[in-house]
Amino acid sequence: MDIKIPLKLSTAYKNEVFEGLSSFPKQLSSKYFYDKAGDQLFKDIMSMPEYYLTDCEFQILSTHTETIGELFRDRENGLDLIELGAGDGKKTKVLLKYMAENNFNFVYKPIDISENAVKLLSNNLAKEMPALSVDAEVGEYFEVLERLKGFNKRKKVIMVLGSNIGNLLHPKAIEFLTKLNDAMLPEDILFVGFDQKKNPKTILDAYNDEAGITAAFNKNILTRINRELDGNFEVEKFKHWEMYNPETGTAKSFLVATEAMEVTVKAINLTVNFDQWETIHTEISQKYDDKIVCLLAEEAGLEIETSFTDEKGYYKNFAFKKS
Ligand code: AVI
Repeated sequence: MDIKIPLKLSTAYKNEVFEGLSSFPKQLSSKYFYDKAGDQLFKDIMSMPEYYLTDCEFQILSTHTETIGELFRDRENGLDLIELGAGDGKKTKVLLKYMAENNFNFVYKPIDISENAVKLLSNNLAKEMPALSVDAEVGEYFEVLERLKGFNKRKKVIMVLGSNIGNLLHPKAIEFLTKLNDAMLPEDILFVGFDQKKNPKTILDAYNDEAGITAAFNKNILTRINRELDGNFEVEKFKHWEMYNPETGTAKSFLVATEAMEVTVKAINLTVNFDQWETIHTEISQKYDDKIVCLLAEEAGLEIETSFTDEKGYYKNFAFKKS
């Protein structure tokens, strides 16, 4: 197994932690949630009863496997199936199995920022589907996008599942989709999962579960900084706080300092002070409706080919082409 891992990630991580903790209001990027412990916590989140997103997307992919698979197929030259933010690949496996069982000629290229997730997925696929061609890579979305242009010898399908796009603010999401569009040829397909606006309580509960798994996930970013950058955050002195704004469809996560404190992060020569109740904004999880998706697509020069939804209409997967 050969997995490509860029070195640049760790420099970007240090710079972003420095900048984020030095700014006001303080912020840290949710893309750094995903170390080994963070990956496990996210897996736990995906199987929580409150976190409906995974089940809804799984239902969509399981119900419409054939239609989606055939939308991806190129009988002449085959295709490259590229997944950004592949994680544990649980939902994708439904499609991979269909494609493998129906004689698709394809290579599966999972890409994720978590080295641990990419290794686990590659090992798991090697065991479960040994005949599958897998070409895994560790990398951050925007950095990997540059290299996607190299995949232009045959049809490519780019997948961004799990409403991962929701972790980007609209302007960043448009930049992301535009770059994907730049890397696409007319026959290529972009297949994206969007969590939908719904009862605000359902959304809030998904990010503020009773068992405190999301709180542990959010706080893991501080534990990670302590371990990897020699920080001395007293993690238990921070409170997980979630807000959902039904007007904008934005869910926001914060860590709130329950008392005033000084924190040092030695590896980046940083000492910062927290006032009592000062916040670190850590994540946005955007929720969508058709109008927003159409707008994003239009701004990025993409056209909606088709879409699929689950029984409750909680979640949608859209297939886009270049317009
Ligand atoms: C990965 N991402 C789409 C998840 C989300 O729903 O924003 C991460 C997550 N954060 C808290 N719970 C799950």
